[in-house]
Amino acid sequence: MNMVLMTPEYNSEVDDTFLQDVMEGLRKHKKTLPCKYLYDKKGSQIFEKICELDDYYITRTEEHIISSNLAEIAEFIGPDAVIMEPGAGNCTKAMCILTALQTPISYIPIDISSEILMSAKNTITAQLPKLNIQPIVGDFTQSECWPLLMQNMVNMRGEGQRRVVFFPGSTIGNFSPEEAVALLKKFNQQMSINDGLLISTDLVKDSVILHRAYHDSEHVTEEFNKNLLLRINNTLSGNFDLKNFSHQAFYHEKKQRVEMHLVSLVEQQVCIAGEFFNFFDRETIHTESSYKYTKRGFYRLLEQAGFDPCCTWIDENDYFAVHYAKVL
Ligand code: AVJ
Repeated sequence: MNMVLMTPEYNSEVDDTFLQDVMEGLRKHKKTLPCKYLYDKKGSQIFEKICELDDYYITRTEEHIISSNLAEIAEFIGPDAVIMEPGAGNCTKAMCILTALQTPISYIPIDISSEILMSAKNTITAQLPKLNIQPIVGDFTQSECWPLLMQNMVNMRGEGQRRVVFFPGSTIGNFSPEEAVALLKKFNQQMSINDGLLISTDLVKDSVILHRAYHDSEHVTEEFNKNLLLRINNTLSGNFDLKNFSHQAFYHEKKQRVEMHLVSLVEQQVCIAGEFFNFFDRETIHTESSYKYTKRGFYRLLEQAGFDPCCTWIDENDYFAVHYAKVL
């Protein structure tokens, strides 16, 4: 995917690698699809519904942690900051932070969904008219993106200003620990000493709570997962029959991750862009992993990536953690 500096008239989905990634993932012995593709326009909307579910504790817990520690968080970030947010989505968490900061310079949200960025920009401008907002439509997981993104941050930064990468939502949990270190290193390499990282992680916890969060009683997560098949049908001429697949999510204790799968309920053949894929009964497509960390486990990861953990805020149930770290 190309990275695009968003202009008001820009309004299309940039996904030239979708086909390639889908084919590659489904040709594998253990079928898999990259979880970033869950977030097309429809998927992003369904995800927003997930965030409001009683069963999904993550979003409200994080919002609660941030809002009840806002002054302290703002103090760590300091005045005149440039805030960059990879995978920003609807930007609501950033709004909360930005309003608490002393004279923030600019906000750079990056997301693969242009529609969601457009509406977020309008919402933020309405509340913070003086803030410079520079949305970028792009895939922050693609390494080509980083130098350019950070260049953008450098350009906007003046003397004594701090760059802070805001990475909330436990999005980092979608990467394996090795990938997470690599990604955080990439952030780190483009930052300077004392620049900051405000990052959230979901904590290791009782598997019953985790199961409920990813297998909600209102079946919204099921809809979210299956939307990926719809997206393939609609944009890559696929012929997935959705009633032949079911949503599955479970906590893998040893790997400390929730895995989300789509399970084939019958032996079947599916055609995508002219290529046939066979599924045996109960075969699954692994669509997402969501890693859970202990505070100490995540500190090790931060340190490996060149960050110095400064502070962690955790809710009273020990469900979720928000960390501030700085570049060493
Ligand atoms: C957006 C990665 C934080 O892993 O909890 C929610 C995505 N998947 N329900 C998560 C998700 C299924 C979510 N993150």
